[in-house]
Amino acid sequence: MNALTAKILVSDERPSARARALLQEMTLAEKIGQMSQVEATHGYPPEYLGERLRAGQVGSVINNVDVEIVNELQRIAVEESRLGIPLLVGRDVIHGFKTIMPIPLGQAATWNPELVREGARVAALEASRCGVNWTFAPMIDISRDPRWGRIAESLGESVLLTNELGAAMVQGFQGDDLGEQGSIAACAKHFAGYGAVESGRDYATTNIPDTKLRNVYFRPFHAAVDAGVSTLMTSFSDLSGVPATGNSYILDDVLRGEWGFEGFVVSDWDSIRQLQIHGLTENDKESAYEAANAGVDMEMAGDAYSGHLMSLVEEGRVELETIDRAVLSILTLKFSLGLFENPLIDPDSLPEFGSDRALAAAREAALQSVVLLKNDDAALPLTKSALKSLAIIGPLADAPYEQLGTWIFDGDEGLSVTPLRAIQDMVGDEVDLRYVRAMHNSRGRVNPEFDVAVEAAAECDAALLFLGEESILSGEAHSRADIDLPGDQVELVRRVRATGKPVIAVILAGRPLTLSNVVDEVDAILYAWHPGTMGGPAIADLVFGVEAPSGKLPATFPRLVGQIPIYYSQKNGGKPPSPDTVVHIDDIDTFAPQTSLGMSAFHLDTCFTPLFPFGHGLSYTEFAYDNIRVDAEEIRVGDTVTVSIDLSNRGDMEAEEVVQLYTRDLVASITRPVKELKGFRRVRLAPGETQTVSFDLHTDDLKFYGRDGKHRVEPGLFYAWIAGSCDAEWRTEFRVVD
Ligand code: NOJ
Repeated sequence: MNALTAKILVSDERPSARARALLQEMTLAEKIGQMSQVEATHGYPPEYLGERLRAGQVGSVINNVDVEIVNELQRIAVEESRLGIPLLVGRDVIHGFKTIMPIPLGQAATWNPELVREGARVAALEASRCGVNWTFAPMIDISRDPRWGRIAESLGESVLLTNELGAAMVQGFQGDDLGEQGSIAACAKHFAGYGAVESGRDYATTNIPDTKLRNVYFRPFHAAVDAGVSTLMTSFSDLSGVPATGNSYILDDVLRGEWGFEGFVVSDWDSIRQLQIHGLTENDKESAYEAANAGVDMEMAGDAYSGHLMSLVEEGRVELETIDRAVLSILTLKFSLGLFENPLIDPDSLPEFGSDRALAAAREAALQSVVLLKNDDAALPLTKSALKSLAIIGPLADAPYEQLGTWIFDGDEGLSVTPLRAIQDMVGDEVDLRYVRAMHNSRGRVNPEFDVAVEAAAECDAALLFLGEESILSGEAHSRADIDLPGDQVELVRRVRATGKPVIAVILAGRPLTLSNVVDEVDAILYAWHPGTMGGPAIADLVFGVEAPSGKLPATFPRLVGQIPIYYSQKNGGKPPSPDTVVHIDDIDTFAPQTSLGMSAFHLDTCFTPLFPFGHGLSYTEFAYDNIRVDAEEIRVGDTVTVSIDLSNRGDMEAEEVVQLYTRDLVASITRPVKELKGFRRVRLAPGETQTVSFDLHTDDLKFYGRDGKHRVEPGLFYAWIAGSCDAEWRTEFRVVD
């Protein structure tokens, strides 16, 4: 240990003060080294990096999870470099490490911040065993385009839901204290607007007006900053002409200037050098200039900073102050994580992979994430005693890897319990199970196994189809233009349907699919997303009614891909659609006069409503909402109104309901959405039980950013709904006065 490290170790000052002291000892080259993250993919021997580490040229490594190699890299950095600064070890720990939770979009369907927090905590504990101390999650890009492959990694289309669940993930990863063993730094990404890429093509451009940036895309990031997130990552995408990685408005003016963010910003993978490909700069040096001056503190996996920052500082084009601010925030995080005290990891001091706690979290999250989209004539749940035989059909019934979904670099498919296995365990000898995979994978075409599947369905009391997308069909760079069930699955459904047996579909997918061509061919649909390691037992519990489904959609399900973007919080427009104005073009007798009179915003060839709205999700019991009311018809700015409803369980099964509060600001200086989610709560009710559910709404909750970029509430009339989806019927109102 060198003298400086020893001095830092005995210091009991706050991380930022210790970082400042260390900064004063650093050369410019060492500072620039801290701003560089280097790929150290698993398998590379430490010698590959050794020289650079010894020379103090590396602040962070990414993508090595071999704890022996990671410890050796840390040892070299701490013992053999001049200043002994430990490394940030980054990895995409997105929805689990070895034990995999449902994909983030599935976790969002739980509407349960506690569960989401626990999922992130468990992931952090597992990742820590390998020396990972920094994850690139949560992804909190508002996602309103199911074609975009990364919707899987998002928390859906709603600002409030993303705010709450994103903050919960941050807290789960970072714990109460970053310095505690098992806590890792979080990274809110991708700042900003990535979810708005044109036509859902990954990495494409975005054009987002400032009011929409502020009222929609920025807000989860602001919430993450308020929740104490350590780092942010820039987006690959172009934001209204200035790529996010070189965008000083978002990084400097808003993030640091307005929100007071004191953590650090990392680029996305080589996205600094990509500024040239965008057409913003001529070469890597100019890219480094733009990114550094915009406020990007660390470069991920590129060499624009290591190659050019030194000369840019010497030329006076990048201020030393800019470098110092960046390095200070990087060092502060390293001190906060306790890396100077404990740079090496003893894996045995942390829980085993796949611990009881991890599996329980994965199972509960999967259970609460599944959404019952339809259930004609109470086709579900199945009852073991009433069933002699069951056909289990489809490419995703027994696919341990596929059920994990996208972004599972370290996920262990050996821990997966598939639906087939869980159902076998559940029914034992009581029900005769006939399993037919029918397709090689979800993209398969008609094959001879279809006949076998149909025969099995015909000979059994019911058919349970496991359909959807395998994991490779969503995620980064995996967008789809056609989001129907892929391959010949629709044909498989039709043929099974023709047997006349009850048909239940369980759909595993990374996005909302367009289901118009199968929705009437099945009696019930359980939408399970990619449910993760414990998807099987969770699905088995729901299919056989051990628990009632309670997931709610975090994103709208379009009827047809041409309806996109379709989301619940759309604007009213000047000619809003209503059921009376729809013309059915397939009715050949319809005469369409050439007039715009009486016309409104809809597509000729489909209805203006989605197939399943945001917030939708059925239960095996029936929930009734009665007596919506406010405690005051008028409130002053700065006051709170309480909106309440009586919720009753009118069925005969104990179950949970996610109660949702929506509002509408009727008249404002910029037009406001037709509905905005303002609150939600999971409530468990016994059969026959009634509970009053109340939400306190402060006028701050009604604020929006106006044309001048200021956050304000404007006096006037507000509607409020409380319901089980955004398709809310029961409304009340109140007025805000000055
Ligand atoms: C690119 C992705 O956009 C980002 O989300 C991820 O964290 C990095 N690669 C690192 O793998």
